[in-house]
Amino acid sequence: MNDVTEKVLKILESAEDPITAEQISESLDIPGSSVAHHIKSLREAGHDIEFSRGSGYLLVRGGGAITSEEIGKTLKTAVMGREIRYHESVGSTNWAARKLCTEGDPAALHGTLVVAGEQTGGFGRMGRAWVSPKGGIWASLILKPTIPVHSLFLITMAASLAIARAIRRKYDLGALIKWPNDVYIGDKKVAGLLVELSTEGETVNYCLLGIGIDANVDISDLPPDLQKTVTSVMAELGHEVDRASLLTTVLKEFESRYQILESGEYDPIIREWKSLSRTLDNRVSIRTMRKTFEGIAIDIDQHGALIIRRDNGRIEKVVAGDCMHL
Ligand code: BTN
Repeated sequence: MNDVTEKVLKILESAEDPITAEQISESLDIPGSSVAHHIKSLREAGHDIEFSRGSGYLLVRGGGAITSEEIGKTLKTAVMGREIRYHESVGSTNWAARKLCTEGDPAALHGTLVVAGEQTGGFGRMGRAWVSPKGGIWASLILKPTIPVHSLFLITMAASLAIARAIRRKYDLGALIKWPNDVYIGDKKVAGLLVELSTEGETVNYCLLGIGIDANVDISDLPPDLQKTVTSVMAELGHEVDRASLLTTVLKEFESRYQILESGEYDPIIREWKSLSRTLDNRVSIRTMRKTFEGIAIDIDQHGALIIRRDNGRIEKVVAGDCMHL
């Protein structure tokens, strides 16, 4: 971004109300005709700038942009996010990441982060729609894991821990993990994870870790049914957060845990997951492909499967399914 464009951004940031092209050109002593060009560059860099004919330009605040440039400012990882592909708007970051993997070499893409300002076709587990308006953190991390296929769920566990820890450390909010892949604040969901795999037998071609965090999402922008069950970091704090910095903290927290997994150590991740679980010791209703039942969630095993004690004393192991707290 050039110096003048940065100055235009500063003016927009300090303006509470819309500001005209004439006001910008006068305060910077630049031709009025060049203002539109700087605005275009700022929009391309991920800034959301509204324009109305009568009143001028207004920067829509979203806790800062979540572009490659902004993320790069606080990124402290060696591998995770070493390459960033930003889309202002995309169907799904998982689709964009999958396209990169099918067109290129997944091993060379390990650590690449696809991130978007908004998603028009975001999806979650079981193909459910994932509402992804502006203000959230919508990202997919490409991984080429060396972890055995039957232990790959530990990647979801490490990522849930990374999000919960980042929210706790940065904002002092009591984020907890709900099995299998959600992060909650109180009784509301604030983030979800989606792992998509491409495997051939025991070989993992690639793993896409989809990360959705309702960072600065305005809850009133969500459909009414979601408003009852979803929260955002902004809603909890009463003010916006710096999304790029939250994302880089998540990446840092994830990288350290991923290294532990890659070294073959699973116990520290499972232990930490248990310490931040809101599911264990709770009465839950489980729905799998084959059956629905209730019981107490008593443990998780070394692969992340949930262990349930049913009322008749029978122990069930749940590898995949929906878990509802009762
Ligand atoms: C869930 O809770 O069901 C998982 C939600 C995962 C949403 C993220 S947002 C970024 C990535 N792209 C998607 O389309 N989904 C994941």
